[in-house]
Amino acid sequence: MTFTSDALAGRVALITGGGSGIGFGIAKAFAAAGAKLVIASRNEERLEGAVAQLKDMGAEAMAVTCDVRDPEAVKAAVEAAVTAYGGLDIMIANAAGNFVVSAADMSTNAWKTVVDIDLNGTFYCAKAAYPALKASAHGGRFIAISTTRALEGWPGCAHAGAAKAGIMSLMRTLCGEWGKDGIRCNTIAPGAIGDTEGVKRIYEDSGRKELELSSIPLGTFGKTSDIANAAVFLCSDAGQYITGADLVVDGGRNRSRSSTGVALPKTEAAE
Ligand code: HXC
Ligand code: NAP
Repeated sequence: MTFTSDALAGRVALITGGGSGIGFGIAKAFAAAGAKLVIASRNEERLEGAVAQLKDMGAEAMAVTCDVRDPEAVKAAVEAAVTAYGGLDIMIANAAGNFVVSAADMSTNAWKTVVDIDLNGTFYCAKAAYPALKASAHGGRFIAISTTRALEGWPGCAHAGAAKAGIMSLMRTLCGEWGKDGIRCNTIAPGAIGDTEGVKRIYEDSGRKELELSSIPLGTFGKTSDIANAAVFLCSDAGQYITGADLVVDGGRNRSRSSTGVALPKTEAAE
């Protein structure tokens, strides 16, 4: 299923981490919906490959090399978008880092690295994009990619869990502060999305793929297009009255776990 080709016509979107995984999925869906794209991250070669694919789809697209831990680099990425396309209507803070390590074994720099990318990077995106989003004729959209794990504790990923919980709090604050400027601030919380670096690192490499799958009522990992469709909806006119929301897109996983995060046994009916 796709949206109409003009659902985001006339909008300019900047997506951090837009060259891979969920971010690239969002970029492709935005391109199909008529948006102009700026994708920003560290790996220039991968970004250029992604831009070529977006251009093949008929979209206007450009890459900006940027480490979201550097507020000046994030500001420069926003300025590049405004200079190239005349404004910025949508900012998607999607860039993130994560790896499995227990809190007891986690170095202080490992903690700092993930919090810097995920939480601080999201704040730098918000701060840099604010003036342009406020000026958007469509009503600015600021979306951060969270996770359902943010508020339930995340054994093995204390750094990412805490950072994503911080992002959710930040976004609720921005909803309250920026509504007067017409800027809608929402998080999207993906469950486990297949064919992504996240699922590879957190579930496949640690041998927990089958356990994870068994905890999902709909029975499969999600697709990057599932998250992308949620983003198109929130950024289109159809999402104009939604701000301060956390849109969970997880096949029901968040509702099928005990409070300790342990997957419940499968019933025969679920086979
Ligand atoms: C323990 C680790 C580690 C690991 C890195 N570190 N990997 N510690 N186990 N597997 C430690 C390092 O030893 C170092 O601490 C510190 O973390 C910083 O590591 P660097 O390699 O110097 O960092 P950097 O080059 O900046 O790379 C950042 C990164 C990297 C996060 C470590 O993995 C990265 O670039 N990731 C981006 C892609 C990614 O993570 N995608 C998945 C997103 S999924 P010391 O003390 O030695 O200096 C996601 C949610 C998934 O976010 C949801 C569920 C499916
Ligand atoms: P991914 O492909 O590894 O995406 C992460 C992106 O962030 C990459 O494109 C990476 O590009 C960029 N990035 C990382 N560190 C950066 C930095 N310091 N500065 C700028 N860009 C940086 O993984 P993914 O699984 O698609 O994850 C995308 C988002 O979804 C993340 O926010 C993640 O937490 C969230 N999420 C994913 C899942 C899942 O199932 N996959 C579930 C819940 C939430 P460069 O390497 O080029 O910098």
